[in-house]
Amino acid sequence: MSRPVTPRADVALIAGYHSPQLDVEVRLNTNESPEPPPDGFTTALAGALGDVAWNRYPDRAATELRARIAAFHGVEPAQVFCANGSNEVLQSVLLAYGGPGRRALVWEPTYALHSHIAHVVGTGVVVEERAADFTIDPERAVQRVGEVRPDVAFLCSPNNPTGTEDPAATTEAVVAAATSAGTLVVADEAYGQFASSSALDLIADDVPLVVSRTYSKTWSLAALRLGYLIGPSWVVEDLDRVALPYRVDAVKQLAGVLALDHVDDMESRVARVVGERERIVGALGSLGVDQWPSGANYLLFRPRSQDGSPGSVERGDEVWQGLVDRSVLVRNCSGWPRLGGCLRVTVGTPAENDRFIEALADLVGTP
Ligand SMILES: Cc1ncc(COP(=O)(O)O)c(C=O)c1O
Repeated sequence: MSRPVTPRADVALIAGYHSPQLDVEVRLNTNESPEPPPDGFTTALAGALGDVAWNRYPDRAATELRARIAAFHGVEPAQVFCANGSNEVLQSVLLAYGGPGRRALVWEPTYALHSHIAHVVGTGVVVEERAADFTIDPERAVQRVGEVRPDVAFLCSPNNPTGTEDPAATTEAVVAAATSAGTLVVADEAYGQFASSSALDLIADDVPLVVSRTYSKTWSLAALRLGYLIGPSWVVEDLDRVALPYRVDAVKQLAGVLALDHVDDMESRVARVVGERERIVGALGSLGVDQWPSGANYLLFRPRSQDGSPGSVERGDEVWQGLVDRSVLVRNCSGWPRLGGCLRVTVGTPAENDRFIEALADLVGTP
């Protein structure tokens, strides 16, 4: 069929971003929380829905939600920007600070959506490589920020898909270089609560740094699609210029506020996930795989070849398929640049993790 209309030439070349959704018993491929939010939250939300003025647009400024998020982080409501998932936060940043003639800097391998959204909004992408252990070399990063002078630089800690945490010194060095280069640093902390450090302490009105967070992971609310950014109030003003009005619907605003009534519950859930993560690390240690340290709710690992030599793309694909055949779905990163042969597993419930470990042991054995 001939097409009477075509998209922008560069959009026609972009592959959509999709994580396969297969029908399996154990789904450990999208870094969601294995546990639902507490009953107290769902009951309170169900009750509050009766008071929604459905015929009216919601509070455009999401006043209460931003006030509660601000109080949770000890910042001002004017420093909080909310959107439909942190992906939309990142998109808003790139709409305001990226665009034609502008550039974003990323350190690969990292979260694919940083460069994907940049491409979609017509922003040039400059790629720097992480070291062999997937850390960012701070000296080289400072040098490159000074040379490239990007409009936006994306940090991601813990980094998806490697799990790597940026030490505070790296973040501080990049932010200092960004200040001289006229660069806005985005610290993507979608998994921030699983990690031991955060860039939130560096937020100030004279520092070009924003931190993006999400309700999708630690708050067990991936279905809600709510994310936010903490940053200088002038960034929030700029984002409000490009973001769609009324984007944060009434249900999201209510749910986002009510979730914050259950901080203790969230923290104990996070502690359970971290405990299970360390249990999986221990189990992988005695199997025929290589793995990397993770500060998140997932682990990157690479099955070794059958003769014990380092893994390969074919071996990664084979083990991924073997897990699917045993009804366990993990993320197949095996064909991704720099990640040949690697798989990423999300920490699930203890029973799900047992299923994963048993299936993997069956496939890779001990070294
Ligand atoms: C590093 C990172 N940032 C952002 C997101 C987007 O999260 P959401 O749009 O659900 O808030 C994800 C989701 O997996 C992620 O891994």
